[in-house]
Amino acid sequence: MATPTTQDQAFQQPRRRLLQGLAAAAVLPAAFARAAPAALTIRLSHVVAEDTPKGLAAKRFQALVQERSGGRILVTVYPDARLYGDHDEMQALQLGAVEMLAPSLSKFGRIGFPEFELFDLPYLFPDLAVVRRITQGALGQRMLDRLARQQLVGLGFMDNGFKHMSANRPLLEPAHFVGMRMRIQASRVIAAQMRALGARPVTLAFSETRQALAAHVVDGTENPISNFWTQSMNEVQTDLSLTQHAYLGYAFVANRRFWNAMAASDRELVGTALREALEFGNQIADTQNEKALAALRDAGGTRIHTPTPPQMARMRQAVEPVHTGLARRIGAAWLDDARKAIES
Ligand code: SIN
Repeated sequence: MATPTTQDQAFQQPRRRLLQGLAAAAVLPAAFARAAPAALTIRLSHVVAEDTPKGLAAKRFQALVQERSGGRILVTVYPDARLYGDHDEMQALQLGAVEMLAPSLSKFGRIGFPEFELFDLPYLFPDLAVVRRITQGALGQRMLDRLARQQLVGLGFMDNGFKHMSANRPLLEPAHFVGMRMRIQASRVIAAQMRALGARPVTLAFSETRQALAAHVVDGTENPISNFWTQSMNEVQTDLSLTQHAYLGYAFVANRRFWNAMAASDRELVGTALREALEFGNQIADTQNEKALAALRDAGGTRIHTPTPPQMARMRQAVEPVHTGLARRIGAAWLDDARKAIES
């Protein structure tokens, strides 16, 4: 089982899966090409279900490119970690086994961009409008531009929404977290947040989470409701606590060599289609999460809790040290700029 201290190992580990994926990626577009000849294929891999904000934005991108290129450019979307998962997707992109990914921002720290973990800081953002002052502004663009250092092109940000806590008990204040093994993404900030609450963070790939919860390898996790619902985590967790304690968003990225090799007009077409798809994703993110909450209530079986104001205050107080404790990792200058953008 990977732990926060073995993140980098986990990132390099599953070579066999990577090779299998490379083989599959080589075969699938060729089969597609026979049905509808395309001059250019863009393989876009992601780890969540199709019926999520990211999944729907990816489909919109696929449709826009298909329509505007008259079928000359084919986008093949691989959802649900069917091709690559958290352990190997970045490596697959860098090796050119896929052309595009849309990882959550929490997954950029371990490949050398710890400043992306500022988005994980608990209770930093009161709402999505404030997040967008960073993601849609100069600071966000600077963050995307830096990805070139790892042969990536940062194409744009997209929201999912705010995360909530789930387990087989309510998790509404720090006393409820003591001793709980909580699945997290590979982010040092999230690990520190869980420790500050008294829990034990366990880093696991998104695609392994539901099974790990079912097998009681971990006791709980955090996610926006659209991810919780579409992974059927309600079948393996009895309680969802609406803590809304931190943000989860994405950066859509491309392999730099692939991107630069495209004809300028194709780059323009693909870039414009993606910007529109991300706008669409941002518009539906809130409603997808609301729909997921309604579906969860309708399904019954999940106890849904809302923290009281005093419980919320205790949560905030417990995680406050994470902001100072992780400032060095994120970078003081990045944090200053983020705070200025937030307060602007
Ligand atoms: C995602 O939304 O892409 C996955 C988030 C997670 O790993 O928890």
